[in-house]
Order: sequence, then structure tokens, then C-alpha cells
Amino acid sequence: MRNKITVVGGGNVGASAAINLAIKELGDVVLVDVVEGVPQGKGLDMAQMGPIEGYDVAITGANDYAPTANSDVVVITAGLARKPGMSRDDLLVANYEVVKSVTENIAKHSPNAILVLVTNPLDAMCTVAHHVSKFPKHRVVGMAGVLDSARFRTFIAMELGVSVENVTAVVLGGHGDTMVPVVRLSNVSGIPLSELIPADRLAAIVDRTRNGGAEIVKHLKTGSAYYAPSAAAVEMVEAVVRDQKRVLPCAAWLEGEYGMRDLFLGVPCKIGRRGLEKIYDVELTAAERTALGNSADAVREPMAAIAF
Ligand SMILES: NC(=O)c1ccc[n+]([C@@H]2O[C@H](COP(=O)([O-])OP(=O)(O)OC[C@H]3O[C@@H](n4cnc5c(N)ncnc54)[C@H](O)[C@@H]3O)[C@@H](O)[C@H]2O)c1
Repeated sequence: MRNKITVVGGGNVGASAAINLAIKELGDVVLVDVVEGVPQGKGLDMAQMGPIEGYDVAITGANDYAPTANSDVVVITAGLARKPGMSRDDLLVANYEVVKSVTENIAKHSPNAILVLVTNPLDAMCTVAHHVSKFPKHRVVGMAGVLDSARFRTFIAMELGVSVENVTAVVLGGHGDTMVPVVRLSNVSGIPLSELIPADRLAAIVDRTRNGGAEIVKHLKTGSAYYAPSAAAVEMVEAVVRDQKRVLPCAAWLEGEYGMRDLFLGVPCKIGRRGLEKIYDVELTAAERTALGNSADAVREPMAAIAF
């Protein structure tokens, strides 16, 4: 049986995710959007790229959920993206309505799916999807840490003039400017960053990572990043459908890990066929714990605006 992967939201992130899923032949792809014709047109266009690129999967587009039935994995990218000057939390109320209705439809048509949330504000939208779907916590994960740590890795590699392949970077916490890039746990082929980069440069890189999304929004003016975000979501899907047991930073529902509970927050997770298979509860320093606590507060606080 081939895997079936639905991507909801056929905009920048969703369409890029769909084409990456197809190129990697991770399964048949269904692209869903509310705009009539757009997912159908993009789906057909992507299917016609198959003979050229040499991938052999079905890619279809739809405005309803019947064609998504019994998906193995569903990537939710539907909703508004940021414009310059907006924070991710500014999207909360509008995207709450979108993610709520998308999740209701998905839960009805694909009751056994694993959900990978992308829509912002990410940690809040994970909570909405978890609550509305009533899916167990191992089947609802959010994409943010893979992207944020990729940004951190990129900036470290650029600073040192080394391959990104040798850079390991850990980012914990919410997907906002309170995220916690953990310098102590990041390294270049095992060499601690503190031995390679002066403290002031390291602080600037951490700051640039925290504001990595806003930097791109400022350039683009009409929307937010989508190449790296879609690749990050696809990396998570690949870990599921190929049962890779990858250790990736994902937004996960905490039940006591890191001394916190009842919220989604970015933590290191083992991702495999069952979805979230393990959360690694890493010992943190007092300063790191405080920073993570601040990030958790920043995730919780705006959620008072949505009642469910
Ligand atoms: N988690 C992350 O790290 C991360 C990174 C990048 C973007 N994002 C978020 O992903 C979301 C999508 O970003 P984008 O750049 O693709 O935006 P976009 O505007 O290009 O695409 C969004 C798409 O969602 C569709 N849509 C809206 N309501 C819908 C509904 N009810 N059902 C189905 N489709 C619906 C729109 O028609 C549009 O095509 C945004 O919320 C953005 O902030 C998150």
C-alpha cells in the first residue's frame, strides 16, 4: 500500500511541501485549498512534472475532503501568513477558525492520520488541532524546531565557513522570538560553539535565529518564508512514513517534561511511524530553564484570546 499524504493549504508553504513530497516519492499527495481551481491546477502541474523529474506518485487537488479519506499523514498549512510588522501571534484569531474547521474535516475523513501542523502561531495551532481532533498526543506534532534549528545551523556555518552538514544545533521552546537556541548543546562535529565563535558573535547569531522568520518577511514584504519551512515539514513526514526514528525538534504536547504540562512546546522528539514516539527530557541549566519558562509563558499568554 502506498502512503497517502494530504497537504491542506495550497499556498506557498503547502504547494512547496506537496512538490517536495512528490519528488521524494513519500506517497500519493492530495492538495486541499478553499480557493476553487488552485489546488486542482497546482496538482495537475505537479503531476506533469513527474515524467520530467522521474517521480511516480499521484498528485491531485481538491476543495473538499472526500479525496483525502484515510490519509496516513496530514500537513496543515492553511491560513494567513505574516506581513511586515506583524508577529505570529497577530494571526491567532483568524487562523484559529481556519485550523479548527480544517481539523474537523480531517478528523472525520482520516481518523487515524498523523497531523503535522505548520500554520502559525504554531504552538497555539497545535493545541487547537489536538483539542478539536481528539487525537492522542503522539499523532499531533508541530513543525517549527526543524526550521529554527536549520536557520541556526545555517548562520553558524556561514560564520565559520564550514559545511552545514557538520553543524548540529538545538533550538527549544515556542516558535516565536522567545525561542531558545541552546548554545551549550550545539556544536560543529562535536566541537562546542564556545570554542569556535566569540561570545558577542554567538549572541548576534542567536538573535538572528530568533528573528529569522521576520528577516525574510521584511525582504519579501508580501508573505513569509516557504522553501525552508516546507522542506522542514517534509523532513518530519519522511521520518513518519519511512519510520526513520529521527530525533527532531518538534512542537509536542507536554505532560510533565521540562517541568511543564498542558501545552505544546518545541522539544527534541523521536519521530517514526507512530508519530511522536518519545520526548527527550534533557537536563537544562538554570538559565536555560528560565528561558524555556519565558517561552512557554509567551505561548500560553495569547491563547486566552481563543476560547475552546
Ligand atoms: N511553523 C512554521 O515554522 C511556519 C513557517 C512558515 C509559514 N508558516 C505558516 O504557515 C501558514 C501558511 O503560510 P503560506 O506562506 O503558505 O501562506 P499562503 O497565504 O501562501 O497560503 C495559505 C493558503 O491557505 C489557504 N486557506 C485559507 N483558509 C483555508 C481553509 N479553511 N482550508 C484550506 N485552505 C485554506 C489559502 O487559500 C492559501 O492558499 C501561515 O500561517 C504561516 O504563518 C509557519
